[in-house]
Amino acid sequence: MMHDVKKTIAVLGGTGKEGGGLALRWAHRGHPVIIGSRTAERAEEAAAEMRETLGGAGSVKGLANPDAAAAADIVVLSVPYAAQQATVSEVATQLAGKILIDVTVPLVPPKVSRVQLPAGGSAVEAVQKLLGDGVRVVSAFQNISAHHLTKLDEDVECDVLVCADDPAAADEVVALAEEIGLTAWNAGPLCNSVVAEALTSVLISLNRRYKVPGTGIRITGVSKDA
Ligand SMILES: NC(=O)c1ccc[n+]([C@@H]2O[C@H](COP(=O)([O-])OP(=O)(O)OC[C@H]3O[C@@H](n4cnc5c(N)ncnc54)[C@H](OP(=O)(O)O)[C@@H]3O)[C@@H](O)[C@H]2O)c1
Repeated sequence: MMHDVKKTIAVLGGTGKEGGGLALRWAHRGHPVIIGSRTAERAEEAAAEMRETLGGAGSVKGLANPDAAAAADIVVLSVPYAAQQATVSEVATQLAGKILIDVTVPLVPPKVSRVQLPAGGSAVEAVQKLLGDGVRVVSAFQNISAHHLTKLDEDVECDVLVCADDPAAADEVVALAEEIGLTAWNAGPLCNSVVAEALTSVLISLNRRYKVPGTGIRITGVSKDA
């Protein structure tokens, strides 16, 4: 009989809205989840809250970011853009040989509904450069509003663009996204993430103009059944 061994996922910045929503969904689907934070206390507090939400189902614990990264098979980075590089540098050793899923959108407050990409292209490419080839960096989830993630019984009406230079790593992240009720696509190399990163400001702009909490996008012309 095949055993479905669920990988342990650490979410750095999992105390926040986006990372917390993703962590909750993976924990709900049976993945051991570790909430990462700058402080172990905040991480454990957020983990305890999540355990309560899940009513005892699911395995969630909280650790300081480097310990969380060390203990996981797959690591998710979900912190504000201003903290992206510093957070990654702090856990570089612990990431060796692993997949890092970067959720970061390079927003520049206060004008977050305006596309303001870094001079070098996408923010995630700088992370891959910083970490080197020993870490498979995958960009995903930039367009998924945290608002929808906490509603566990609802599918999210926004597709996920997954970009990575390692296609196998991208496929693994597509599968992880689909496990939690999202439709995800392998959208090509890491440099293509520039589109997903920029698109978030467009979606924020739409949210404001049409007074809704979370607009999204759909890829058409292709079917998951194909
Ligand atoms: N919110 C959304 O709907 C959404 C949607 C798509 C993508 N995103 C992207 O996902 C990422 C996280 O978004 P979020 O809304 O969850 O952000 P957030 O709640 O503001 O921050 C997430 C966590 O990052 C850590 N953090 C905050 N400031 C930091 C700093 N200066 N240095 C180091 N760590 C810091 C905090 O954790 P500790 O204090 O516990 O360390 C915080 O709980 C962002 O890049 C955002 O653009 C967000």
